[in-house]
Amino acid sequence: MNFDDVSADIESVVLTPEEIAEGIARMAREIERDFAGETPLLIGVLKGAVMVMADLARELNIHVEMDWMAVSSYGKSTKSSGVVRIVKDLDISLEGRHVLIVEDIVDSGLTLSWLLENFSSRQAASVRVATLLRKPDALSVEVPIDYLGFDIPNDFMVGYGLDFAEAYRNLRGVGVLKPSVYKD
Ligand code: PRP
Repeated sequence: MNFDDVSADIESVVLTPEEIAEGIARMAREIERDFAGETPLLIGVLKGAVMVMADLARELNIHVEMDWMAVSSYGKSTKSSGVVRIVKDLDISLEGRHVLIVEDIVDSGLTLSWLLENFSSRQAASVRVATLLRKPDALSVEVPIDYLGFDIPNDFMVGYGLDFAEAYRNLRGVGVLKPSVYKD
């Protein structure tokens, strides 16, 4: 889906598909350099990370393996409490692996913080983090990010994996959603 298809719902374009592709390519070159000679295990966090995982993995000119994790919050307070429940765990063991967590966005940082804590007991050789987007003004916990695409403002963004009520994930770029779409 292109911006033209949802122009009535989008207040402003934050990242065009071309800018996203440039950011992914930049991240991929850094990852290739750091994981030279290794086969990293890329772990995508469903569902938002599907797009960045698909594009980043194909941009990488090294062997990778991919696995997926689905997590969910206990109720609406998750975003503030950081309490997370595993809906789908990994299929592949982390033991001895060089792991790269792949996220679409780090917002409060609570999901990533919980994941890093959860992975810390799984005997990975190393755990690094790649995220296409980060909202510096929304961070409530410090989280280490090794590969970053873009810092973005703390507005309600959709597209490229980011949703509003499950819609807009398939928008090719990232844009700010008009408040009239989500406010009554
Ligand atoms: C999004 C995103 C991250 C998380 C980041 O997922 O994909 O996993 O939020 O937010 P945080 O830094 O405040 O924890 P979401 O829970 O919206 O689920 P989704 O990927 O299925 O849309």
